[in-house]
Amino acid sequence: AEVTHPLPLLSLANAFNNDELVAWHKRAVNLLGRSDFDFVCELKIDGLAVALTYEDGRFVRGATRGDGVHGEDITHNLRTIKSVPLALMGQPPRRLEVRGEVYMPKESFRRLNEERASKGEPLFANPRNSAAGSVRQLDSRITASRKLDIYIYALGYADDGPMPNNHRDAMSHLAERGFRINPQSRLCQTLEEVEDYYRSWVERRRDLPYQVDGVVVKINRFEHQRVLGYVGREPRWAVAYKFASEQAVTRLLDIGINVGRTGSLNPFAVLEPVVIGGATVKLATLHNEEDIRRKDIRVGDWVIVE
Ligand code: IVH
Repeated sequence: AEVTHPLPLLSLANAFNNDELVAWHKRAVNLLGRSDFDFVCELKIDGLAVALTYEDGRFVRGATRGDGVHGEDITHNLRTIKSVPLALMGQPPRRLEVRGEVYMPKESFRRLNEERASKGEPLFANPRNSAAGSVRQLDSRITASRKLDIYIYALGYADDGPMPNNHRDAMSHLAERGFRINPQSRLCQTLEEVEDYYRSWVERRRDLPYQVDGVVVKINRFEHQRVLGYVGREPRWAVAYKFASEQAVTRLLDIGINVGRTGSLNPFAVLEPVVIGGATVKLATLHNEEDIRRKDIRVGDWVIVE
């Protein structure tokens, strides 16, 4: 069923290098008329955005982001994720909505694809697609078998009760209610510290058990966020500082074809094993015959795997 989000779920503007980060910061300084504000740096988890609604401390609804205003009701599936609390701790507000990212850990993704390959089912291209496919199942037993997890990264809204005046404290508050919050976030006082945080993850991210595609930088105080506002669906108070995507060159050993339950033919690449982002990649989807022709993919080719 379709769900209308009372408060739209936003997306983020991207920065791909330090100049773009500096430009983002400069705009914020100009609009706020000050530069003494703090930032919270977080990992940008590569999964799918969801909104969780609680009434009197009980989980009543979970929805996908969709187009930001209209999402899909996936409550039954989110209930199968152990780290989604069904009842909150303490004295929660009458109505509370939090936002977060559902993701599939790298190891679960690898196992799932191996299992699918052995059953002749099409492979998922990456952990994000497999997480998205897993929460949109009609049968929640399938979702339950997929080993998904969640990190909460924002407060949507809270009806009553005192709420902190900044993002950092709001996250601690949500942790106390029982939500799973990523432990790698940092409070930074200067843009140099933000850049250091980003750099520190460029290599280290490969060791994380989940996929991240950048760092999210947020201006901490809610009052500053309110003043900065939005351009379209993108807040001016936050930016996604993206990592370059990881690539490796390897040899295409063979093209296999799985026959799906409905008779569909699903081609996949058998690769000389190559390490990308800490994972050894041996198989990759080739999507369909048309795509293979478009890219002129042949056995024996050297290929870039991204
Ligand atoms: S904050 C207004 N924080 O990235 C801010 N988003 O490209 C809204 N994401 O749709 C998002 N990790 O699904 C935020 N620590 C994090 C995140 C995060 C992953 C996703 C989120 C969002 C997308 C935007």
